[in-house]
Amino acid sequence: RLLDRLDCGDDIVVVSNRAPWVHSHTGAGIAAARPPGGLVTALEAVLSAQGGCWIAHGSGSADRATCDGQDHVLPEHLPASYRLRRLWLSDAEVDGYYHGLANEALWPLCHRASVEPVFRASDWDCYRRVNRRFADAVVAEARSARPLVLVQDYHLALVPRMVRERLPDAVIVTFWHIPFPEPQSLARLPWRDALVDGLLCSTVVGLQTAADLAHFSAARAARAGAAALSSASARIMPHAAAGAYPISIAWPAPAVDDGAAARRRIDARFGVPAAARLLLGVDRLDYTKGLPERLRAFERFLERHPHQAGRVTLLQIAAPGRGAVPAYQRLEREVRALAARINARFGAAGRLPVLLHLASVDAATVLDCYRACDACLVTSLHDGMNLVAKEFVAARDDLRGALVLSRFAGAAAELAHALPVDPRDIEATAAAIGAALAMPAREQAARMAAMRAVVRRHTVFGWAARLLEDGVRAASAARRQAAC
Ligand code: G6P
Repeated sequence: RLLDRLDCGDDIVVVSNRAPWVHSHTGAGIAAARPPGGLVTALEAVLSAQGGCWIAHGSGSADRATCDGQDHVLPEHLPASYRLRRLWLSDAEVDGYYHGLANEALWPLCHRASVEPVFRASDWDCYRRVNRRFADAVVAEARSARPLVLVQDYHLALVPRMVRERLPDAVIVTFWHIPFPEPQSLARLPWRDALVDGLLCSTVVGLQTAADLAHFSAARAARAGAAALSSASARIMPHAAAGAYPISIAWPAPAVDDGAAARRRIDARFGVPAAARLLLGVDRLDYTKGLPERLRAFERFLERHPHQAGRVTLLQIAAPGRGAVPAYQRLEREVRALAARINARFGAAGRLPVLLHLASVDAATVLDCYRACDACLVTSLHDGMNLVAKEFVAARDDLRGALVLSRFAGAAAELAHALPVDPRDIEATAAAIGAALAMPAREQAARMAAMRAVVRRHTVFGWAARLLEDGVRAASAARRQAAC
């Protein structure tokens, strides 16, 4: 029904760095894989219902083989009914735009973690050039002068402006998935004005939380007041609306047979002792996720409760990525060393307190982990939202299990019935681990039911609907105003 009201025909263009489908050569031919997570599910639902195009960087080993000799994925390779256009970035472009500006400058700038951002002018030049290439593709794929363009994330901050310059009537909805930096942090970015101006050319900018919205609004106010704003940019800059749109997941979670069967599969796969209580961490291997802090807190818990050694296992899954960036290489060494230290101190043959799995695992296994564990630990130092917290809650229709959740994850604003922690406070986090393991079944059920009610009410489909509706409404209001 929403899509009917939007009345944007089949002229929707989604643009993101990562693609909704990645193709790889396998022994048996070509396999299409889709990244886990609700974002793709929700935006694909919009595109499939309405028609349109998704533009993203192509990086899979068979991505080129699935295209029409150019940029479009052939329908027989696309398990969805919209157009998928790939952008081919050279190694140098990936280096400057993705590893450099996006991951060494913006990522640490936006997250309060202990890694310093690196600002290289050459990375910024590359970021601009690559954003231009994405914007060119958007313009090429638009079928009218008023397409609905959905821009995803910090990789593409300049795209709204670059599209607006060529399609002044486009409805541009930009979502910033990570925390938006507070004014003092943003001030460190040498190219902050261009970045903010880029975003301000959107019709609507979506942020995750009220705090992110406040930070973005401060940046917008500073730009609006800046005398440096040239008349040329004022001409194309509409008054971008901004709002908090906390992202979520699809509901309901896929059904699992039962928790005990899930637990047996997890024990067999990862070597968890059958009698052990199970703590779970599922993350990307990223310094914002508070993995060393989590391991130290678990170590502290074992120091305080030595009789628990051998009775509690922490299964930590951490999918590596961005390995070209030195901070990620350092993090991997630190996490491995901490796990080895804890296992040496508290482990025995066949009974390691920490099972570290530094690889990505398939969605079905993650779901089993959610269903099998006694407590899920989300200890991010800073996180835009953290969908693991919501996925865990969605998976627990048995109303069992406890969630330990960092106050500095966006999800904490919604999941008030989790056990909140400051992950840098190792003592308090150790105590929260103990409280999670000791939580009576009735309390688990009450907390879980309350959290499930929140996630069920605010799904990723509702997220997409609100964003799109507000984008279209803001564009109509602007048109009416211009006509007066
Ligand atoms: C996290 C963030 C997203 C971001 C993504 C990029 O998941 O929450 O906002 O787009 O990282 O990850 P990548 O592996 O593509 O660098």
